[in-house]
Amino acid sequence: MKKALLTGITGQDGSYLAEFLLARPDYEVHGLVRRSSSLNRQRIDHLFHTDGNAGRFHLHYADLADAANMSALMESIRPDEVYNLGAQSHVRVSFDQPLYTADVVGLGTLRLLEAVRVLNRSKPVKFYQASSSEMYGSAPPPQGPGTPFHPRSPYACAKLYGHWQTINYRESYNLFACSGVLFNHESPRRGESFVTRKITLGATRIKEGLQRKLVMGNLDAKRDWGFAGDYVRAMWLMMQQDKPDDYVVATGETHSVREFLEMTFGMLDLDYNDFVEFDPRYMRPAEVDVLLGDASKAREELAWEPEIDFPTLVKMMVEHDLELARREKYALGYQTA
Ligand code: NAP
Ligand code: GDD
Repeated sequence: MKKALLTGITGQDGSYLAEFLLARPDYEVHGLVRRSSSLNRQRIDHLFHTDGNAGRFHLHYADLADAANMSALMESIRPDEVYNLGAQSHVRVSFDQPLYTADVVGLGTLRLLEAVRVLNRSKPVKFYQASSSEMYGSAPPPQGPGTPFHPRSPYACAKLYGHWQTINYRESYNLFACSGVLFNHESPRRGESFVTRKITLGATRIKEGLQRKLVMGNLDAKRDWGFAGDYVRAMWLMMQQDKPDDYVVATGETHSVREFLEMTFGMLDLDYNDFVEFDPRYMRPAEVDVLLGDASKAREELAWEPEIDFPTLVKMMVEHDLELARREKYALGYQTA
């Protein structure tokens, strides 16, 4: 049995990666969770009740801000693979909380790397860092290995720090440390304030008469959007190679926020122009205009291909959120009946 330790297990990617690893018979999964006043484990609750997971799925309290606690857990769990997915991952919020974001995303990665380095003295341990296409920032598209980084937010600067520390630990200590530079990836489990989920939740609630308008920021930004389930498979593949390396993971297609709106509302037989309003509150002090990734290295060396294309991704999210909206409407009707 291999032991995998995941930070960020309650997030979108953590939940898909835990599911992916537990579907394999040879993994035990240990997730680090933060204490919160209300439980935030909706994305992973089902894993406790899935056949075959009994005794193979464990949660531990930890925080990327707390080095002592992470070192102690590293020593007691003694994992074979560590996936660092934990982060304050919202770019707009990072402008409001730059120091906190730098602490958790940047120094948090270094704290975890230190704990991994110490454990690696007594047993081999592999490390995966969740790096981001945001690090390319204003670099013109397509972005891929060799494209100079130009981060445009406190989040992106902090991710760049974590990325370089990962490479530095690989080169300095011969650690098996990989950095996956992942372009945007979405799913029905995407956080509700990221643009794709905000759109599919808003449009489906409008369709069901639960909401009248959707207030948005910059509709001209373009992103290379893939499906999170495909992207966690790429993380795992990186960790199974003979040598650690860094990879870009992307679909190689880019679409604007406006196109995402058109497709989502179109699937619901609505015109987004009738419902979308602009609010400067959702603009960023510095924007990343276009992301379009070159994942040819991952395709060639990892034999990785995305399975879900853009229209299928949008449809999957719309269908999921339409069901949520219908349930909400039904519950409201039931309460007022
Ligand atoms: P997410 O849904 O926002 O999940 C973030 C996770 O980090 C949550 O489990 C969260 O816990 C945890 N976390 C936040 N602050 C923490 C702290 N101080 N200590 C420990 N854990 C903390 O993000 P995601 O979309 O799954 O992304 C996973 C990782 O990939 C992140 O590092 C993100 O920056 C990076 N990334 C994402 C994308 C993308 O498009 N999704 C692309 C490139 C890179 P709570 O549930 O308690 O908040
Ligand atoms: N969130 C949000 N809300 N974004 C909006 C809105 C809005 O109302 N209106 C327009 N946008 C635009 C943003 O300005 C941005 O250009 C684009 O939509 C995408 O925003 P997000 O979905 O918040 O994602 P992101 O690209 O900033 O960051 C995500 O992808 C990164 C990888 O490139 C996050 O998942 C990061 O954690 C990740 O590293």
